[in-house]
Amino acid sequence: APYLNTKFIGRNYIHKESLSSTNDMAKELAYKVPDGTVIVAEEQTKGRGRMGRSWFSEKSSCILTSVILKPQIRPEKTVALTQVAALTVVKAIEEVCSVKTKIKWPNDIILNSKKVCGILTEMSSEIDVVNYIVIGIGINVNCTEFPDDLKEKATSLQLELEKPVDRKKLLASLLNNLEIYYKEYEEKGFESLRPLILENSITIGKEVRVIYTDREIRGQAIAIDKEGKLVIKTEKGEEIALLSGEVSVRGL
Ligand code: BTN
Repeated sequence: APYLNTKFIGRNYIHKESLSSTNDMAKELAYKVPDGTVIVAEEQTKGRGRMGRSWFSEKSSCILTSVILKPQIRPEKTVALTQVAALTVVKAIEEVCSVKTKIKWPNDIILNSKKVCGILTEMSSEIDVVNYIVIGIGINVNCTEFPDDLKEKATSLQLELEKPVDRKKLLASLLNNLEIYYKEYEEKGFESLRPLILENSITIGKEVRVIYTDREIRGQAIAIDKEGKLVIKTEKGEEIALLSGEVSVRGL
C-alpha cells in the first residue's frame, strides 16, 4: 500500500473478495491478530448497520472495512472513540475529494443532506476494561445505484462529485488519519478532539427528535459532552445526555 504511512494501523492487512461482514470477521479474529489489524472486503453478503439494520453495498465500489483496536480504556470511553472515527472519515474525504462532509451524531457522515458513510463500533469488554474494539466503516464511494428504499437518504461520493474517487487513496487517507486522531485521543483524551468534532457536526444547534429506549424526546441538540454524549435541551428546559440512539435532524 504505497499511500499508507502509519506505524500500526493497517500494517496487518486482510483483503477478501467476499465476506458476510468485515465486522464479523474482525470479531472472530480479534484475539489472534495484532492491534491495528485492518480487514477490507470487496463485497459483504450480510453487511450490518446500527440498530440491527442491514448495510447495503455494491460490489467493488465501496469501502467496507473494519479496524481492530486494543486500547487500554474503560468501556464507556468507546462512545467517544466512535466519534473520533467519524472525524477521521470527514478528514479523509476532505483530503482526497476536497469536499466537506458533516457528522450526524453519533456517527453518520452526511454529504449534501444525504448519508455517504456509516460507522458501526462493536466491542468486547470486562466490567472495567475493553478487550478489543472493532470500528466498522462503510463508505459509499463509487456506487451509482441504491435500492428504492434508500434512494432518498443515501448517496455516494461519485454521485455527488460527478466523478469516480480512488478507493485506494481514500482508504489509505482514512487509516493515516485514524492513526493520528487515535493517538491524540489516547494521549490527550477526547476533550482535545471535541472542538474539531463540534465544528464538523451537523446535529448541534438543530431541532432533533430522538427515539431513545422506546421514548421519543424532542428538543434542541446543544452540545456533545466530554464523554461524547449528545446533550439535548427539551421543550421543558430539561437537559438530557444521550449515550446513543436514533436521531432525526429536521431537514435530513
Ligand atoms: C450504520 O450506519 O448503521 C453503520 C453502517 C456500518 C457499515 C460497515 S461496512 C463495514 C463494516 N461491516 C459491517 O457489517 N458493517 C460495517
